[in-house]
Amino acid sequence: MSAKINIEQDMRLGKFEFFAMNNPIKRFIQKYIEFTIFKKMLTKNNINLVHKTIMDGGCGSGFSTKLIQKEFNPERIIAFDYMPEQIQLAGKQHIGVDFFIGDLTDIKLKDNLCDAVFIFGVIHHIPGWQKALTEVNRVLKPGGCLLLEEPLFRFSWQELESGLEKTQFRIQDQKHFCFSYFHSYLCIKR
Ligand SMILES: C[S@@+](CC[C@H](N)C(=O)[O-])C[C@H]1O[C@@H](n2cnc3c(N)ncnc32)[C@H](O)[C@@H]1O
Repeated sequence: MSAKINIEQDMRLGKFEFFAMNNPIKRFIQKYIEFTIFKKMLTKNNINLVHKTIMDGGCGSGFSTKLIQKEFNPERIIAFDYMPEQIQLAGKQHIGVDFFIGDLTDIKLKDNLCDAVFIFGVIHHIPGWQKALTEVNRVLKPGGCLLLEEPLFRFSWQELESGLEKTQFRIQDQKHFCFSYFHSYLCIKR
């Protein structure tokens, strides 16, 4: 099997994970735990994202995009995912966002565009995840923020954190939950 096919298989969700990601329990957890952690971090660090340009990278079914839109009423919201099946579901959110198929390791956006990027559980799917961090850093404005939540998979926390530092992010805040199996980070582009 070629390396390209292996990479694609890693980035796509299997049937079980697709179901696990797109059901009411997961949405409840995302709204009341994952997104709430990010909102508290932003408030604690005096960061206001109202009317800003925000990207939701690996937006899945677009539920996180809907939460972002409701909370911050962004001037512009950019949301994409690698899987066409997820983008099809996202279109059914009916929130007036142009969801598109995209790849975090090759973001089709210009440099220094976004004030903030949200990533909920995507980086651990990407074999070349360091490239994805470099790309996210590129599309953020200097001083812009990355809100990143990941489970302990593919990398150790030390590897992820040194990857963030190497790609010119400063880790400003972090929280661990679910027995430290998940970490949420607020990072600032240097
Ligand atoms: C665990 S799901 C999380 C989806 C969504 N963020 C959420 O919280 O519901 C991981 C998602 O990452 C997407 N993904 C994997 N590799 C990607 C890449 N290189 N670029 C963009 N999305 C990717 C998958 O298609 C999948 O929808």
